[in-house]
Amino acid sequence: MRNEFCIGVFAFPKSIVFCCLLLLLSSQISAQTENESFENAFGLDETQSMDNKKSNAESNKYTGQISPIRKQSLSGQVDVNEDEGNHDDKDETKKGVEEVSFNAVNNSDQKNKPENEITLSDGFSEKIAGRRNRKYARYDLSEADRYAPHSDGSVLNYVLTETRLKEIRSKFMYWYVDKGGNNDDGDYQREIQASMPQVHKNFNFQLPFFGLRFNYTRVSVNGYLEFTDPPMHYTYPLVFPVRNWPKENDPSFIGIFFSKCRIGKIPPTDIDQRRPGVYFRVEEDLQNRADQFGVEMRERLKWDIREGMIGAEAFDPKHAVVVTWKNVSFVGGIDNSLYKTNTFQMVLATDEVNTYVIFNYLNIQWTSHTEAGGDTVNGEGGISAFVGFNAGNGTGSYEYEPYSQTWMIRDLTRRGCVNGFPGRHMFKIDDDIMPSAFGSRPQRSCNLGY
Ligand SMILES: *[C@@H]1O[C@H](CO)[C@@H](O)[C@H](O)[C@H]1NC(C)=O
Ligand SMILES: *[C@@H]1O[C@H](CO)[C@@H](O)[C@H](O)[C@H]1NC(C)=O
Ligand SMILES: *[C@@H]1O[C@H](CO)[C@@H](O)[C@H](O)[C@H]1NC(C)=O
Ligand SMILES: *[C@@H]1O[C@H](CO)[C@@H](O)[C@H](O)[C@H]1NC(C)=O
Ligand SMILES: *[C@@H]1O[C@H](CO)[C@@H](O)[C@H](O)[C@H]1NC(C)=O
Repeated sequence: MRNEFCIGVFAFPKSIVFCCLLLLLSSQISAQTENESFENAFGLDETQSMDNKKSNAESNKYTGQISPIRKQSLSGQVDVNEDEGNHDDKDETKKGVEEVSFNAVNNSDQKNKPENEITLSDGFSEKIAGRRNRKYARYDLSEADRYAPHSDGSVLNYVLTETRLKEIRSKFMYWYVDKGGNNDDGDYQREIQASMPQVHKNFNFQLPFFGLRFNYTRVSVNGYLEFTDPPMHYTYPLVFPVRNWPKENDPSFIGIFFSKCRIGKIPPTDIDQRRPGVYFRVEEDLQNRADQFGVEMRERLKWDIREGMIGAEAFDPKHAVVVTWKNVSFVGGIDNSLYKTNTFQMVLATDEVNTYVIFNYLNIQWTSHTEAGGDTVNGEGGISAFVGFNAGNGTGSYEYEPYSQTWMIRDLTRRGCVNGFPGRHMFKIDDDIMPSAFGSRPQRSCNLGY
């Protein structure tokens, strides 16, 4: 559908924007036609898809580690021919997925590579494939919510305007995408399944947390990031530090919605058709980034945190981690309970001395898995999820009151109010855990500004 709209716009940059605006208006999510493969849609040839698989396998060996720098055509984006002479109009028309971001690509970009060639997290390395087109991430269109951005696809020395900053900061959820990247999964963590509840991720930096420093994490479907091993069993309500430590493990973790979760389902009527599951993205070396996405991530995070925490006025993030649990249901429910889902997101920012975390609660439809006493249809009752932090080894914990393990957990989506958003909560977590002063007034609602 999109294709028809955009035919022939290649020569008329203004109409590209216009055309895409039309598209956006006409359909909130004009996702790629379901049965059209990514390779088809974006004209990636056979060789490339094979390479994709190979490099994907490589990067999977050490998920989370930066993969070797390569150039690759990827993701939903502008298609700019490096070689105008070889431009095949017919081909373009057929494949026809020409779309341009509002920050339209400078033509000179076609010839220049960004000075700072920085690979993004796993799944975002790039490589040049013959004389194929360069693909530009167009994540800044709302439709592009689904496509992985990458530094190569950006204007050189991108300058972020006030207007643009305001626009990106007006969105509640940080970016997460389920298309593009090495295997067209975007940030989506395909490895996480019922049989494999977590994936290990290495960082090329130090993440100070609760008095310790970690250069890795484990992303769990169960609503937390874990750094050390849990005990064999939990009893409810959960108590941290684990009472029987050191006989039993006392894990170190950041719990945004610590509960037994399983990946849910969405009906075709859901507006946001991004796949249910867990999304993970690391953005490193933000202070030296000149690509659009790097700059926007840095500035968005910087100002959200500076304005969200007292004492963070000079914070300049170096590294960011965005983990999103989209449409996760609870363990123990009947089949239909898979449509009872929660969506929440954790954004970590560190300069390797200070660490801040943002909890964005978009949607909470259930509170408790069945082992914790929740019912099998709605996941309600019993002891609700734990929200908070544990240092590990019996050294300390922080439970987020009054929400954690109480019925008030539902209020997480309406309270918090950090940066003016209902549902946004913020903490400083490098040493002792400190909640944002703007978020620690649970009895108030958000329409008071903060
Ligand atoms: C692709 O899907 C659409 C509906 O989603 C269907 O009408 C069409 O026949 C499908 N085409 C192919 C080639 O499967
Ligand atoms: C676009 O290219 C022109 C000519 O190379 C250059 O002078 C200008 O600074 C570039 N603009 C941006 C935003 O990169
Ligand atoms: C993480 O730190 C340990 C030692 O603290 C080191 O041996 C290891 O190589 C580091 N890993 C990465 C990916 O930097
Ligand atoms: C899936 O999550 C979205 C928010 O990301 C929400 O609007 C939607 O209602 C959820 N769908 C189901 C079936 O729970
Ligand atoms: C906990 O203690 C064990 C054994 O002393 C040690 O190996 C581990 O690194 C410690 N973990 C944390 C998070 O302090």
